[in-house]
Formats: sequence, structure tokens, C-alpha cells
Amino acid sequence: MAARRITVLTGAGISAESGLGTFRDKDGLWTKYPLEEVATPEGFARDPARVHAFYNARRANAAGAQPNAAHLALARLQRAEGIDLVIVTQNVDGLHEAAGATAVHMHGELSRAYCGACEHRWDAPAVMSPEMPCPACGAPATRPDIVWFGEIPYHMDAIHQRLSQTELFAAIGTSGQVYPAAGFVQIARQYGAETVEINLEQTDVAWDFDDHLVGPASQMVPAWVASLIGEDPGR
Ligand code: APR
Repeated sequence: MAARRITVLTGAGISAESGLGTFRDKDGLWTKYPLEEVATPEGFARDPARVHAFYNARRANAAGAQPNAAHLALARLQRAEGIDLVIVTQNVDGLHEAAGATAVHMHGELSRAYCGACEHRWDAPAVMSPEMPCPACGAPATRPDIVWFGEIPYHMDAIHQRLSQTELFAAIGTSGQVYPAAGFVQIARQYGAETVEINLEQTDVAWDFDDHLVGPASQMVPAWVASLIGEDPGR
């Protein structure tokens, strides 16, 4: 029998219980930092030192964080027999990988650096600064390998292809406010997938989904995974 094709989209909410801030919740990152200034190419051109400082702080937080029960459950699901799971994440932390899973990082990764001059990519040092030269071309055009507002997310063709073939689509810990990720549920549905939203609360886009599991990811995701692979939810 063919493996069941499942696609999961994760957002900041899955890492919230690992101590990493979300963006749009009360006390979220975008309530403290103007996103136009720290998460756009224009903001970077205006004040690269400020943008590097923002991502240096986030890289330090992410480096100190541990995957929680939700990340670990998805890693188990990915290894389970009879399941073909692709995790697409909007998160730039490495907690899916730390849990033992592979994930498609559509918004880039804090652990990677990118040269705006020659497009070379490499492992980011803990602290980055505007004057840091690119190791390939020497230009002082180093930036975090993060997709900012106004830029095109990574791996879109592969993600679209996957959504067209998925049997079950789950969105976990994402507010559904940012496109193109927010449109994935409609694409999956259009191709016949069942859809489920797993979130601390019913989001503004909850009506896009067939089913809803409302509660903290660290509880809801292990229970959902257990229901899919028949494991003991107490694990
Ligand atoms: N368990 C489950 N869901 C949670 C939890 C939790 N413990 N804590 C918060 N949430 C939910 C919130 O209810 C909210 O719907 O996580 C969601 C977080 O939403 P956002 O802060 O908007 O984060 P996200 O959807 O990942 O943002 C998308 O926006 O700024 C950009 O590039 C950034 O990738 C990010 C994108």
C-alpha cells in the first residue's frame, strides 16, 4: 500500500513553548520591533547594523532553545511506517532538525548567511555585522539568509507540487496572515486534501479548514500524531 501523504505547515506557535517569541500575538515580536525596519530589504539598506542586531539576538535565542513535544511528535510521524510526511516551515529556527526531522524552510534559516552581491550561502557565525565580507566574493554584502517581506519565499515550486499531491494538510501554530503560506490550505483543499488547523485558538482563517484542534501545540500535536500512527498518546 502506498504511504499516506501528509503535509504539515508550521509557524511560530510550534516553537512558542520552546521559549521563542511569536510575531503577532500579544507581546509578539512585531509589537516590539517595526517589521518594515527589521524584516524588509529597504529596512536593511537603511540600517544594516540594526537588522543584524535583531537577527543576532534571535540567533542567540534559537541556539539556546530545545525542541518541544510538538517538534518531537512530528519527527516520529516522519519516521513512521506507512507515512510520507513533508514538513514545510515558516520558522527560521532549527528546532525541527534538532528534534530529528527534516523541514523545508520557506522563509530561510537563522543558521545560514547569504551574500547580497554574489548569492553565495554559508553557515552563519553567531554574530554577524554589515562590514563582514562574503567568503566567496569579498563584498561587504553579508545578510542573514532570511526571506524578508517583499521577497519571494524559497522552494515554492516544490511546495506547490507537494500540496497538489497531499492527502492530509495540517497547519500548526500559524496565524494564516502571511501569504503565500496562508494560501496553502486552499491549494491542498482544491486538490482534495483533508485539512486540519492546530492552534492555541481559532484563528481568523479557521473557516478554511475542515477540522480544528484547539490548544497548545505541545499537547495537541502529540495527540494528533498518536491518532495517525496508533501510538500511545502518553509517550
Ligand atoms: N501552540 C499552538 N499555537 C500557538 C501557541 C502554542 N503554544 N502559541 C501561539 N500559537 C499560535 C497563535 O495563536 C498564532 O495563531 O501561533 C500563531 C502565531 O502566529 P504569528 O505570530 O503570526 O506567526 P506565523 O504565523 O508563524 O507568522 C508567519 O510572518 O512575520 C512573518 O516571516 C514571519 O514566518 C513568519 C510569518
